[in-house]
Amino acid sequence: MAWARVSLWALCALRVALATVYFQEEFLDGERWRNRWVPSTNDSRLGHFRLSSGKFYGHKEKDKGLQTTQDSRFYAISARFPPFSNKGRTLVLQYTVKHEQKMDCGGGYVKLFPADLDPRTLNSQSPYYIMFGPDICGFDFKKVHVILQFKNEYHANKKTIKCKVDGFTHLYTLILRPDLTYEVKIDGQSTELGSIEHDWHLTSLRKTAAMVVAAAADTDQGRARTAQDWKKHFLDARANKPSDWNSELDRDWPGPMLQKPPYQDGLKPEGINPDIWLHEKMSSTSYLAQYDLSEFENIGAIGLELWQVRSGTIFDNFLLTDDEAYAENFGKATWGQTKGPEKEMDDILIKEELIRAREEEEDELLEGRGHKPQDAFRPFHRRQEL
Ligand SMILES: *[C@@H]1O[C@H](CO)[C@@H](O)[C@H](O)[C@H]1NC(C)=O
Repeated sequence: MAWARVSLWALCALRVALATVYFQEEFLDGERWRNRWVPSTNDSRLGHFRLSSGKFYGHKEKDKGLQTTQDSRFYAISARFPPFSNKGRTLVLQYTVKHEQKMDCGGGYVKLFPADLDPRTLNSQSPYYIMFGPDICGFDFKKVHVILQFKNEYHANKKTIKCKVDGFTHLYTLILRPDLTYEVKIDGQSTELGSIEHDWHLTSLRKTAAMVVAAAADTDQGRARTAQDWKKHFLDARANKPSDWNSELDRDWPGPMLQKPPYQDGLKPEGINPDIWLHEKMSSTSYLAQYDLSEFENIGAIGLELWQVRSGTIFDNFLLTDDEAYAENFGKATWGQTKGPEKEMDDILIKEELIRAREEEEDELLEGRGHKPQDAFRPFHRRQEL
């Protein structure tokens, strides 16, 4: 029994040891976060961040994070790390966000930027790779964005993912895997998952990738098989326009270009250089396979670039890694530990407020003034949904 436990532990340790952590930020070293996080000076009206665990928390020090401090402001701040590519690897982006003010309208998302970002000029036009996290405005708009940049265009997820709207800290996790699947977790629970091609209107991506891979198999041995596969792909490509093809996002359906068999002009399939054919026939379609929608060559900064009507949001426990298990453990060790005590402290504060409100009400009655019942009930609604 003991042996089994030890070996299991060793396996877990090995797994964690293999994780690559590109960036991790818990704000545990006082004011030194200012050496890592650079506020943008692109506009003098940008709002200021401070380090705070807020009015209620699970742990006064561990829950300290970046808090927005001014109402009706844009915010822009970022931190750098050694650039990396997630090509062929899983990418996990995770952080916690707490809207302890009653969030009426404002962003709670993060952005991942290319390494050439200039932090001082960061603004809403700065190109980013990924935008992920909750965004709330009014009663209707309460969604989790997962926007991916592909070839200088931004693609939003077509499935609507609802975000949390209460005043407590929540853990948001985005996983992009090299097999073109993704997963969004909120508080460690899988909320949405599936295929990136499908959930971003990109049915063409895999097909095109397969064709280019087939063409790249340009060895003598591979040639015959490639020609056959290639003919099959050609037939695939002649299929009718997929029902979910979106001309706005996917560009125009390239089918008509492929109606003419490539070997028609006296050529046999075996005699065609697939590279040339693919180059000529495929160059006008949007999605070539040298990189795909979930691959980012030069990730080098993470930042908050958002607008808030009512400030007070706290961002903490940022993590960028290639290891899902590491992210899960990091989530448990941070948010997992403080979420319970945070709720308890909030309960205590609400009770105290209630007692204070009752006392004030009694004082007012003693003084002969009319009482206002709505005041006594207000604390109950403080951290409820909008
Ligand atoms: C803000 O950024 C833009 C580029 O995105 C730049 O042209 C402009 O000069 C910047 N302004 C300031 C004050 O930094």
